Amino acid sequence: MREPDAAFADPRQAVLYDALDDDRSDLDVYLAIVEEVGGDRVIDIGCGTGTLAVLLAAMGRTVIGVDPADASLDVARAKPNADRVTWVHGDATSLVGRNGVGGPVVDGTLDHAGLLADVAVMTGNVAQVFVSDDDWSRTLAAVHACLRPGGCFVFETRRPEARAWESWDLAPTAITLPDGRCAVVERTVTEVALPLITFEGSTTIDGEALRSRSTLRFRERDEIERDLAVHGFTVVDVREAPDRPGKEHVFLARCDGVRPVPRPGA
Ligand SMILES: C[S@@+](CC[C@H](N)C(=O)[O-])C[C@H]1O[C@@H](n2cnc3c(N)ncnc32)[C@H](O)[C@@H]1O
Repeated sequence: MREPDAAFADPRQAVLYDALDDDRSDLDVYLAIVEEVGGDRVIDIGCGTGTLAVLLAAMGRTVIGVDPADASLDVARAKPNADRVTWVHGDATSLVGRNGVGGPVVDGTLDHAGLLADVAVMTGNVAQVFVSDDDWSRTLAAVHACLRPGGCFVFETRRPEARAWESWDLAPTAITLPDGRCAVVERTVTEVALPLITFEGSTTIDGEALRSRSTLRFRERDEIERDLAVHGFTVVDVREAPDRPGKEHVFLARCDGVRPVPRPGA
């Protein structure tokens, strides 16, 4: 899979993630859904700096947070309740076959059901980092392998028709971080080649310009529903993100017990 972007993998940038995006009311819907579906064992895929994972752990859930950006995991590991979370450096495929979570996709198996997760979540539009069909397909297969039959996969993704990228350009803007330091942030969308959007960001802090480049994929709702079905999920609901009405889809997909037969090339 692709290396995570510098915004998450560069230790100098990872420590700024929470400060630059300090309103996490977007996570409320996930906390509510985990309550709603009654999930005790939760996997947070692309957990980043771990804000949701530690909240879930504080609620008494058994939580695994997985992310390929070790620098972000280091931030997560320093948070209150972080010691109640199992942190895994990797992606969803890293969980398959791991002791206590998941089972090999080809082996897959109801006899591990007692150890499989009840809920898998991907917050912060992690679903859009999977640019290639292969990465997306491998991720869906791995999530399926990690969930118990009937378990719930919850994730959000931006709706292409809302054209979010049209408001992403940001002229150099000074902001004060919670620790009192001043940072100047700047962002430019450099390529619109739907379904891919590429943008570059820069944060100048303590005289140093920290740069990142990201490409995200915008998938249509019917495309996602089809991909979920191919990978053994049944979409049970598609909701609004309450804090971003009209802009996002929040998918709730049930993991069907029968493991799908991999398609050639899938
Ligand atoms: C916008 S952040 C969201 C982080 C966190 N879920 C949140 O809500 O704050 C996107 C995250 O996706 C992670 N990521 C990148 N590639 C990934 C992959 N192949 N599998 C899982 N996560 C990935 C990044 O390292 C980053 O932490």
